[in-house]
Amino acid sequence: MLKLLSGFALGLMLCACSAQAVDASRAPLAGDLVPLNSGPIAEASAYQQHCGICHLDAGQGVPGAFPPLDQRLAGWSGSDAGQAYLVSVLANGLYGAVEVNGQQYAGAMPGLAAQLSNIEMAELLNYVVTEFADGAAVFTESSVAASLDAVGAGPSLPLRPQ
Ligand code: HEC
Repeated sequence: MLKLLSGFALGLMLCACSAQAVDASRAPLAGDLVPLNSGPIAEASAYQQHCGICHLDAGQGVPGAFPPLDQRLAGWSGSDAGQAYLVSVLANGLYGAVEVNGQQYAGAMPGLAAQLSNIEMAELLNYVVTEFADGAAVFTESSVAASLDAVGAGPSLPLRPQ
């Protein structure tokens, strides 16, 4: 009986491990997430799923809670330092006091590196920059990888362009 039980426990562990392995290695997104790379409608729904729950559908944000994603993004995406900041915010999150359009925010955005691949971060950033900021779609899978190499997994706040 004991042997049977421990066999059962081992089976459970193996099962949990393989589920985790599948999860960690998923290259394209699994069914729980909206796949990107399929045109503007898919990008809009990926934005709604990953960002819009806080920053709202038109990027307008919620005063005092979630900052708007607005014209500042165009300027930031036009420089290496600004791109690195934006990539870091998506991958590592953002914690601490920031001022946006005269309004103070002292919130916390969770890092999304575990949920988003580099190409997905590139597409989401291109979406917000072109939709909400009249900027250009400058992010690519390799530019995101280069930004991540440059910034590592440290806090984003010190990287924020003035
Ligand atoms: C759980 C809520 C939440 C989600 C989801 C979220 N954000 Fe944020 N985001 C925040 C908060 C809160 C801040 C401000 C953090 C602070 O006050 O330090 C922020 C800050 C930012 C900033 C920096 C703004 C600035 O002025 O420096 C950018 C850019 C940004 N988010 C983009 C995104 C994008 C793109 C996504 C989706 C990939 C996303 N966020 C998902 C809550 C969220």
